[in-house]
Amino acid sequence: MENKKIKLGVLTSGGDAPGMNAAIRAVVRTALANEMEVIGVRHGYEGLINGEFHPLGARDVGGILQRGGTILLTSRSERFTKPEGQREAIRRMNEAEIDALVVIGGEGSMNGANALSKQGVKVIGIPGSIDNDIWGTNLAIGTDTAMNTIMDSVDKLRDTASSHQRAFLVETMGRNSGYLAMMAGIVCGAEMVLIPEAPCLVEEVVAAVEDAYKRGKTHAIIINAEGSALRTTDLAAKIDESNVGFSTRITILGHIQRGGSPTAYDRLLASRMGVKAVEALLEGTHGMMTGLKGKGVDFVPLADVISNKRKVNMEYHHMAKVLAR
Ligand code: F6P
Repeated sequence: MENKKIKLGVLTSGGDAPGMNAAIRAVVRTALANEMEVIGVRHGYEGLINGEFHPLGARDVGGILQRGGTILLTSRSERFTKPEGQREAIRRMNEAEIDALVVIGGEGSMNGANALSKQGVKVIGIPGSIDNDIWGTNLAIGTDTAMNTIMDSVDKLRDTASSHQRAFLVETMGRNSGYLAMMAGIVCGAEMVLIPEAPCLVEEVVAAVEDAYKRGKTHAIIINAEGSALRTTDLAAKIDESNVGFSTRITILGHIQRGGSPTAYDRLLASRMGVKAVEALLEGTHGMMTGLKGKGVDFVPLADVISNKRKVNMEYHHMAKVLAR
């Protein structure tokens, strides 16, 4: 590929994550520094199918480094999961003479990127998801910010919980992964963490709350991952009717976790991955995702990313338990 002729598309897809804008900015500015043209694709894969293409210059990505969300907008495209949708997206790309694509998103987005790659599109993925459930990278863009949001919220909840001697059930996001809840359990000093990877009975939760009361704790914080087998409202009702000493309140953090200004860590990770993604394309590398390995940003094949399931490290689950004494 001759640098001058390269037209690079960039899109964000799936659930937005803080730091996606920092990644867009890094992609755009690195590409421009290398004499490439950049096309922003709006609304993720849905926009790729519809041909929502807008040229991006250096000034278009000014002032976005610190902003949550994604200036390119995003979507969960059902149409793109089908071969017809993918064919139409490729036709649109060819029509607009887009030579290569950077896809910023989660597991589903990497699936889409791999499908394009298998059909000959030069694509590089950048992992962005608060859930940190993408195989091939130690950390995805957005996870650190979400963790800090949870930490800030639980710190506040603990103040009021202690004042009233209450048990608080705090539900975190993470449809299929307990990563956020488990790590939040450690950094927030929760009494108990409930994750899909370690199912437990309602009775065990009630017993743990009662035990915390008997040990003289002024509060009990239970962090329940969205995807755990136990529903937060059911748990609260069960604890209340068991008269364990604490009365119970619920906080579902929800989409609060997806918003906000990215942390320094996420801005740095996004910038590093954005730069690497464009450099890789310039060197003729594609069909890969940027992945944080140790301290460096490396590449993993998209085919491996989608065929492996990232597991949570259960050592941290144990750690959260030990530190809750
Ligand atoms: O994948 C990120 C995530 O925030 C999950 O944790 C959550 O289950 C899901 O997205 C929510 O999706 P939506 O914003 O489409 O409701």
